[in-house]
Amino acid sequence: MTDNVVVTSSLCRQFEIDGVVVKALQNIDLTVEAGDFVCIYGPSGAGKTTLLNLIGALDKPSTGKILVFDHDLRTYNEDFLATFRAAHIGFVFQSYNLISTLTASENISFAMELAGWKNNRIHERSESLLKMVGLEQRKNHFPAQLSGGERQRIAFARALANEPPLLLADEPTGNLDIETGLEIIRILEQIKTEGKTVIVATHDEKLLNLASRSLCLKDGRLTDKLE
Ligand SMILES: Nc1ncnc2c1ncn2[C@@H]1O[C@H](COP(=O)(O)OP(=O)(O)OP(=O)(O)O)[C@@H](O)[C@H]1O
Ligand SMILES: [Mg+2]
Repeated sequence: MTDNVVVTSSLCRQFEIDGVVVKALQNIDLTVEAGDFVCIYGPSGAGKTTLLNLIGALDKPSTGKILVFDHDLRTYNEDFLATFRAAHIGFVFQSYNLISTLTASENISFAMELAGWKNNRIHERSESLLKMVGLEQRKNHFPAQLSGGERQRIAFARALANEPPLLLADEPTGNLDIETGLEIIRILEQIKTEGKTVIVATHDEKLLNLASRSLCLKDGRLTDKLE
């Protein structure tokens, strides 16, 4: 094992639909070390979600290489990748992706149940995460009964449930007003103090202050110069 959590070389992802080729990522060389807090900053369409999906083992590259926790993600089948994700990666999606038929508390507990945790441990962890995101009072509410910011806080709690060493967050403040966005930033600050590896895709400049490293993604290419 190395201290590198993510290593990509000449990573490319392109999409082809009806003969139209979209080069979403072009020759990405990126190394993220354990404990890094990396912000990927860039305009809409730059390729941020595409990059997080590749790192999160939700998608595979067109060409190039990607290692996450020393695993070459191109080489595994979906069953292995599902287990790999559950053990290593927490994902906060751009559109929350909470399960609408489960309460806030059930959304958080779900991954722990799949991982076979004992009920009292699930309960304790779930309560402590609800407290961390300040939503203990709303634990029996369904996603549709929560505001966008509250859903996003539950999405963070869910992503952290299995204690993954790597957290990926896609535009976590993107749909929120300034004040609600600050609550998310407070949660990210706390996660940062816990020494997790965090990669955040954003076009919110306030998030850049939290980063140990900020990278700019534009037209599918990565630079360390912020524009
Ligand atoms: N499944 C797909 N099929 C076809 N094109 C896609 C697909 N996913 C992404 N793209 C294209 O790849 C490019 C990068 O998209 P991506 O969603 O990664 O951008 P983004 O930086 O996350 O943008 P935003 O800030 O709006 O979320 C865009 O041109 C997009 O249209
Ligand atoms: Mg996106």
